[in-house]
Parts: sequence; structure tokens; C-alpha cells
Amino acid sequence: MQFHIMTLFPDMVKTGLCTSIIGRAQRDGILQVDTWNIRDYTLEKHGHVDDYPYGGGAGMLMQADPILRCYRAISDRCSQAPRVIYTTPQGMLFTQSAAKALAKEDVLVILCGHYEGVDERALSLLNAECYSIGDYVLTGGELPAMVMADAISRMVPGVLKNRESGEEESFEGDLLEYPQYTRPDCYEGLLVPPVLLSGDHGKVDVWRREQSLRRTLLRRPDLLRTAELSKQDLEFLSRLGYSPETAEDG
Ligand code: ADE
Repeated sequence: MQFHIMTLFPDMVKTGLCTSIIGRAQRDGILQVDTWNIRDYTLEKHGHVDDYPYGGGAGMLMQADPILRCYRAISDRCSQAPRVIYTTPQGMLFTQSAAKALAKEDVLVILCGHYEGVDERALSLLNAECYSIGDYVLTGGELPAMVMADAISRMVPGVLKNRESGEEESFEGDLLEYPQYTRPDCYEGLLVPPVLLSGDHGKVDVWRREQSLRRTLLRRPDLLRTAELSKQDLEFLSRLGYSPETAEDG
């Protein structure tokens, strides 16, 4: 899979995505992350890429033209016009299921916003899909672009090695993951739950499922509304005081 990231801070994005698993996947040829400096595509003689908003207001906006020129340089390298994601707090919430869906693309372009945003016409002309990584405002779209590229990449087949792939990880089936422990079995007086040392895989599975349910109820009850819950799950949750009819959001 190829990512083309349009940004005013290419070094930040490159550095953020060249280590660990995503770096390894690039070296293995499974992923390609290209960064594009929007400033290289301005025709303005001082290299400006921003201007004041029409109608007044605080801050500066990124202009449409350098963004469009940059995108055309990218699409000239692709067989089809690639899909564009724009990172903005006004976007749809980026979730694990969005990451999975986007991982099916061969090529994705991510446009990182900066200043007070970008001229709306750039977004219309690019047919950009707007995504937010959470309800808070960052100084720019580079961190969200890195977050999204990371989460999407780990869903691309071959990026995670067998032992790293998390069929039971958080958000699988819409539940949070159960707590985990490694050696030693007693640390500063805190014991590993005995069931995990019992060697009884059936009991371990039940304990883990119940811990996932308990943790999701405590920390993210909103997820239970869409989670796939069995009759046993619902019985366990009802013992904890949960009822689907009266459930409230987090
Ligand atoms: N740009 C600034 N804040 C953001 C957020 N929360 N998500 C996506 N892009 C952003």
C-alpha cells in the first residue's frame, strides 16, 4: 500500500513513520510512505502557501492552488486518481473499522491541514474525505496523519508478523481488551490472577471474556451498544448491573 502525505512539515511525518513496525514494513516493500512538501508547489515568489480568510477572522488559511498542484503531481504517478483524506477536527471520527476499510486501498493521499484550515474549494476539488482523530484541536494535521497511517498500515496484510497481530486486541468485536500479565508472577506483592497460571485454557478464555466485558462496561459503555454479545455475555453484564434497555453512553 502507498501513502502520499501532503504537508508543510514533511520531515516530521517521515521521521514519525520510519521506525518500528511501520518502518520495517517499508523496508520489506509492503508499505511505501512518500511525503510531499506543499510549499514546493506554490507559484508565489516568496514561497507563501497561505493567506487571510475572506470575510475576516483569525488566522491564515492554506490556499487551494499549491494543494491542487501538489495533488496533481502525486496523481501523475498513479494509474487512477487516488482517494484523498483531509485531517480536521470537523471530520468524521476515525475508528478501527475506518482503519480496516481504508487498508483495502492501494493508494491513499492524506492532506495535513495547518493554520486555521484550508480553502474549502481545495477540499471540494479533491473530493476530500474529512476525518478527525478525536474531539480536541491539534496545531496541525501531521500527528493525525501519522496516527491514521499507523492504524491503517497495521491492517494491511503482512505488516504485522503472526505474533504481533491482535485478533483479540481492543475494538475486536467492539470490546476493550482484557488485562495482561507477564513474568514474574508476583511483583511488589501483586499476584497474577491464579486462573492464568492454571493451564486450563477453557477457564482462561472465560476469564478473559469477562474481563473484557467488565473493562468495556467501566471505561467505554458506549461500545456495548454495538458489540456482538452472546447470551452468556449479557448474563454476566447484567450481574454487573448493565441492562441494554437502560444503557447510557460513556
Ligand atoms: N487537526 C487538528 N486537530 C485535529 C484532530 N483532532 N483530528 C484531525 N485533524 C486535526
